[in-house]
Amino acid sequence: MPFTSHIARVLCAALDYAPERADEIARLLGSPPDPAMGDLAFPCFQLAKTLRTAPPKIAAELAAAIPPDELIASAVASGPYVNIHLDRQEVARRVLGAVLADPEGYGGSRAGAGALVVLDFSAPNIAKPFHFGHLRSTNLGADLARILAFRGHPVLRKNYIGDWGTQFGFVIHAWQQWGEEELLRERAIDYLVELYVRAHRASEADPGVREQARELFLRLEQGDPQITALWQRFRELSLAGFMKTYQRLGIGFDNYDGEAAVNPLVEATIQRFVRAGLAEESEGALVVQVSGVLGREIAPLMLRKSDGASTYAARDCAEAIDRWERYAFAANIYVVSRQEDHFAQVFAALKLLAAAEQWPQPWPEACENVSFGYVRGMSTRKGEAVWLEDVLDEARDRARRIREAKSAANPRAFPGLSAAELDHVSESVGQAALLYFDVSSRRLSDISFDWDTVLQFEGNTGPYLQYSHARMCGIFRRAAEQGLGDGSTPPAQWPGALADEEWGLVMALRGFGAAVERAASEREPHEVARFLHGLASSYNAFYNNCIVIDPANPPTTQARLALVRASQAVLARGLALLGIRALETM
Ligand code: ARG
Repeated sequence: MPFTSHIARVLCAALDYAPERADEIARLLGSPPDPAMGDLAFPCFQLAKTLRTAPPKIAAELAAAIPPDELIASAVASGPYVNIHLDRQEVARRVLGAVLADPEGYGGSRAGAGALVVLDFSAPNIAKPFHFGHLRSTNLGADLARILAFRGHPVLRKNYIGDWGTQFGFVIHAWQQWGEEELLRERAIDYLVELYVRAHRASEADPGVREQARELFLRLEQGDPQITALWQRFRELSLAGFMKTYQRLGIGFDNYDGEAAVNPLVEATIQRFVRAGLAEESEGALVVQVSGVLGREIAPLMLRKSDGASTYAARDCAEAIDRWERYAFAANIYVVSRQEDHFAQVFAALKLLAAAEQWPQPWPEACENVSFGYVRGMSTRKGEAVWLEDVLDEARDRARRIREAKSAANPRAFPGLSAAELDHVSESVGQAALLYFDVSSRRLSDISFDWDTVLQFEGNTGPYLQYSHARMCGIFRRAAEQGLGDGSTPPAQWPGALADEEWGLVMALRGFGAAVERAASEREPHEVARFLHGLASSYNAFYNNCIVIDPANPPTTQARLALVRASQAVLARGLALLGIRALETM
């Protein structure tokens, strides 16, 4: 934030502070409640204590001591605040210059270079339903991966597939009872989930089924070749299904090793807990007492069940150690909801082991669980949403119907599209509606899904952002027809005083890097969404009040085209961070 640091340095000088204190001053800077009062506000309450003077008096003296310069137009005291008006023309020149000099990189940084982040996200379970929660994890995780990479971090995308555990006992049991080759070939994962559900139901009526499932899983753990071959086949079928969905969303991972891959390391890890004196027996099971380790009460972590089967928690402990040995991460983030207790147990147990074995690096402290709220109200034609693929299909089909209705009602604003264009627009708008919905609130809030709301072209929606982008592109098409260029050259100087709406848009653009920084440090993609919504709103205020292409006024036309170009570049970059396609026509 070069402007803020400039202002902070000026304030430092006016206060007779050492220049090193500029950061401390910069943190106090805010914005006035009403933009007419100024662009930045400096509160004098804190100084009042050290200076033993009333805040309004300090504000008045300080305002008088701030000379206008190339960035500061004026400084005026208002009660206990100093309000600063920036030089609009100069700031506009600099902001547009910065965006247009590097449209792809503006807002990013190299701050994270060298600090590798492992992001564990999506991680669906094979032969169990792909819950809607997995979409949110997939989406938030992919957003965080892009945001952290934009901040310069090397990012390792990890899909820790749920391909081990007692659920396989159920599926294999069901397969042995009722399995039909034909159906498996036709319907793959759908069929596996049906089998799983069927076995689960049967176990409710007949406890013997659970017993058999448990035994089958133990045989799998012991490496029984027949059972292993079945498992292998189910795993591959499921993975192929997941891959189709990831491809559709344009999401990739660097590593798909799941719970099964870590299994060979689990016993040795359990033995380390035993040797360190951290494991104890409890009702036939092997547990680690972790209460109090993270400063609160946590139930014990179970390393092994009483029947000898390994646990999800033991696998996560072994896998985290392996992860550290492979990647020496600066941060290890699990984007998983409603497993707070599980991750607290794992991190606490690792912390105990670190102390007992005197690890040179306290890396368990770099492990984080990024949790998120629950999505209510999602259902599709096929009923309650189990498969992400069905949700994406429904979003696409609904988007298509909306586009067709708009075209029928207003053919000038929504001219007919070719079949291929309509396909592309429907798929992109459908995805935008779903993906943006997930980040339209902070991640920990529970959210209620409603098809009609998320697909609207106005309001806090993905399609609204896409539509704003498409309208910007429409302006460039008109400018090109009239030989006016494409707005990619910033004006050497702004041709006159900036209108309030132009200024609002410049100030919005200026905030991109700070929004990305907050999104990265708070692990909160919503910060990018919120920024983009603000940017689109500022743009629409500008668009409604300022004529961009004005043949009578070439310099203004050029300056405004550059402003639209900068807005389009930042909007497109921000949408890309959220995995949303920026459309040229809609
Ligand atoms: N497969 C798990 C589930 O669906 C999520 C796995 C998250 N990652 C981890 N390392 N535990 O609940």
